Amino acid sequence: MRRIVLIGYMGSGKTTVGRFLAKDLDMPFYDLDWYIESRMRKKVSQIFAERGEEGFRQIERNMLHEVAEFEDVVISCGGGTPCFFDNMDYLNQQSQVVWLSCQPEVLQKHLLMGKGDRPLLKGKNPDELIAYIREQLEYREQFYSKARYKLDVSLMDNYDKIKITVAKLRELLGI
Ligand code: S3P
Repeated sequence: MRRIVLIGYMGSGKTTVGRFLAKDLDMPFYDLDWYIESRMRKKVSQIFAERGEEGFRQIERNMLHEVAEFEDVVISCGGGTPCFFDNMDYLNQQSQVVWLSCQPEVLQKHLLMGKGDRPLLKGKNPDELIAYIREQLEYREQFYSKARYKLDVSLMDNYDKIKITVAKLRELLGI
């Protein structure tokens, strides 16, 4: 049985890489945010608006415990998932966790381009955004760095590079 979990900051490409990796391994792919949205029948932004971040984190934790029981799957988490409750220790028990690390400048670029609707970043101009990313990364790295595997994806920007990243991940995980 194999369960692979991708973690990392918003904009690091967890969902894209996870989808490609799952396809390559012929395994189902679950994105935790999408799973939450389909189970709750609400967008993540709507959950934040109605219940605040605290309410979202509780739901996220509960849903994580559902998804991380599935077998032979690739899962991508939300950027904050490892940083609340005992989620990171739980993930390490349940799965092979890979931290997709990425430079703040690259994250900023991806997040400015991204169409994603991210409540924590709403209304931030580019300068405020990079300052926020740096500040949050400084705090969050203590959780991310507990992952058994780490891969720097700062250079992963186009289709060929995604394929190379998937190959590197397979090598790292020995599969
Ligand atoms: C969050 C990341 C988002 C989503 C929510 C909060 C975070 O997921 O779970 O908006 O705290 O970093 P992505 O990393 O998939 O954007």
